[in-house]
Amino acid sequence: MKIVLLGSGNVATHLAQALKSKDEEIVQIYSQRLNHAQLLADFIQCESVNDLKAIKTDADLYIIAVKDDAIESIADQLRTVNGLVVHTSGTTDIQALSSKVKRAGVLYPLQTFSKTKAVSFEEIPLCIEATNASDLSVLQNLASKLSQKVHHLGGEKRKLLHLAAVFACNFTNHMYTLAHQLLQQNDLDFEIIRPLIKETADKVMVNLPEKVQTGPAVRADETTLNKHFSMLNNMPELQHIYQTLSDSIKLMLK
Ligand SMILES: NC(=O)c1ccc[n+]([C@@H]2O[C@H](COP(=O)([O-])OP(=O)(O)OC[C@H]3O[C@@H](n4cnc5c(N)ncnc54)[C@H](OP(=O)(O)O)[C@@H]3O)[C@@H](O)[C@H]2O)c1
Repeated sequence: MKIVLLGSGNVATHLAQALKSKDEEIVQIYSQRLNHAQLLADFIQCESVNDLKAIKTDADLYIIAVKDDAIESIADQLRTVNGLVVHTSGTTDIQALSSKVKRAGVLYPLQTFSKTKAVSFEEIPLCIEATNASDLSVLQNLASKLSQKVHHLGGEKRKLLHLAAVFACNFTNHMYTLAHQLLQQNDLDFEIIRPLIKETADKVMVNLPEKVQTGPAVRADETTLNKHFSMLNNMPELQHIYQTLSDSIKLMLK
């Protein structure tokens, strides 16, 4: 299958590596910044472009892996292609593509990707969607080469999955960042908290999270909660987050 990859960020980079490892033929990488396209194209050994007018028109599959807000305008430039055009976004409607191109689909990988960290693609749930059965089967074939976990999951369910993922991953990671800041301000190394982070994640691999919640809010330890609150007097934003999350934990007790 001849594939054009549009994007050179975290997802495009991991997808390119996974597709290459399965001997899929990536014929071109597009990115708005040519040096970004070139970097990935050098690894894949294919052509790089930063002009949408230079996109090859005879590919079988076009994978748009750019920031969500740019998907629709890129699809608009692909109106003339006959190949299947998919995006990799959790929350973008398939209509962002189907309103522009002849054949539209979604290939949403439910994982957090950073260029700096390798991932095992075979373990990643891939959520696929297409506007017709034959394109869904094209995506099913490709996705099942990349991963053992392929789900036909479209529309509202995919968006809900992405929303849950923002809570489970993005917000959790932000909490690590806030913890890091608190530690750093007090000359403590982030390393000291890593075993706690690992154990917290390990526990939810075998338990439901609400069953293994610990800490002052779940114990209703008001003295400790109040002490923490006053320790954050000079950091009103953190104080607000602390209060909101503690209240949310307490609500689960009811
Ligand atoms: N990262 C994740 O964990 C993850 C997981 C699942 C799905 N996704 C989805 O995958 C897609 C890509 O996410 P990402 O994390 O890989 O993004 P990213 O690493 O931030 O890379 C963003 C990409 O978008 C391009 N871009 C930015 N603004 C653009 C514009 N105005 N016009 C054209 N291209 C533009 C950038 O091109 P230049 O570098 O050339 O500027 C770059 O290739 C998104 O739809 C996202 O929702 C991400």
